Amino acid sequence: MRTLLVVSGGDAPGINTVLAHYTVLATAHGDEVYGAQGGLAGILSGQIEQLTPALITPWAGQSGSYLLSSRDPVLKQTEAREQLVEALAHHGIDNVILLGGDGTLRYVAPLLSEWGIACIGLPTTIDNDIAGTEQTLGFDSACNYAYQAVDGILATGHALHNRIFTLETLGGNTGFLALEIAWGAGAHVVLVPEYTYDNDWLAERLKRMVSKHGYALLVLSEGVLASRTLAEDIFRWTNIRVRDTRLGHAQRGARPSHSDRALAAHMARLAYQALRDGLRTGTVVVRQGKPQLHEGLLQGYPTRLPSRDIYDQINGDER
Ligand code: F6P
Repeated sequence: MRTLLVVSGGDAPGINTVLAHYTVLATAHGDEVYGAQGGLAGILSGQIEQLTPALITPWAGQSGSYLLSSRDPVLKQTEAREQLVEALAHHGIDNVILLGGDGTLRYVAPLLSEWGIACIGLPTTIDNDIAGTEQTLGFDSACNYAYQAVDGILATGHALHNRIFTLETLGGNTGFLALEIAWGAGAHVVLVPEYTYDNDWLAERLKRMVSKHGYALLVLSEGVLASRTLAEDIFRWTNIRVRDTRLGHAQRGARPSHSDRALAAHMARLAYQALRDGLRTGTVVVRQGKPQLHEGLLQGYPTRLPSRDIYDQINGDER
């Protein structure tokens, strides 16, 4: 069996761990592993190379992805299907493992399946916003990364009073990352794109936290509408110094955590087994805390929302 590994969309910590586990496992059973450089666009332009344990194992714990990714929507082109099928046939590829986020699993995986290409999808994104799975690869590492900033802010906030700290996480237009980090950090306020808030409430709450604790910590997702100007707005509303930290893409390049490495190992094993069993379309998901194979696509699963209960507890608790 010859499998092609493809990374599409935003990279995520743990992708290299999957590549390494899969390559070692498949090779040990006499199968061959190839990788596309440059995502789907890379396949179309023939950027396909063989992966060996010796090549990929040193990458297992690195952030990012050895296989270059791409966000180019090349499958929309009219000739895409023919080119893709031809490129796969040219390299003797039997099946594909597609590592990607919401867009990739929602739009690319169904197309491959429709075009008769056997494909196992692996949900990899720091955003944890894929319907049908409780945990995506990279989310835990991205949360861990944020605590470096959280701990630093708490230390300086305690030492020098009368400041409001805003900490912006990635997360696209979703708030799963921000909510999880705010909860773990004991933030005084969390803002996520999915839920609205009132400016007067926000200003009052931050002022109250500063007068009670000497500082206030607000965690927000980059997708919150007012995020670009929020720090200045809060200063205007409260007349308290605001210090703004944005994790940015450094968060996506976080070192893979233990939990993500363990999930990566499960993903590799489950995907390999599924392909060996001849499954044509599947997705590795986490349900009730257990990594497992979902036979088929994740289409049709209702979009999840960040926990309203946790959101209300963070923003409602008297601290
Ligand atoms: O991959 C998800 C993500 O990292 C989001 O959290 C973020 O908003 C987005 O990708 C950034 O995308 P780009 O790297 O294209 O700027």
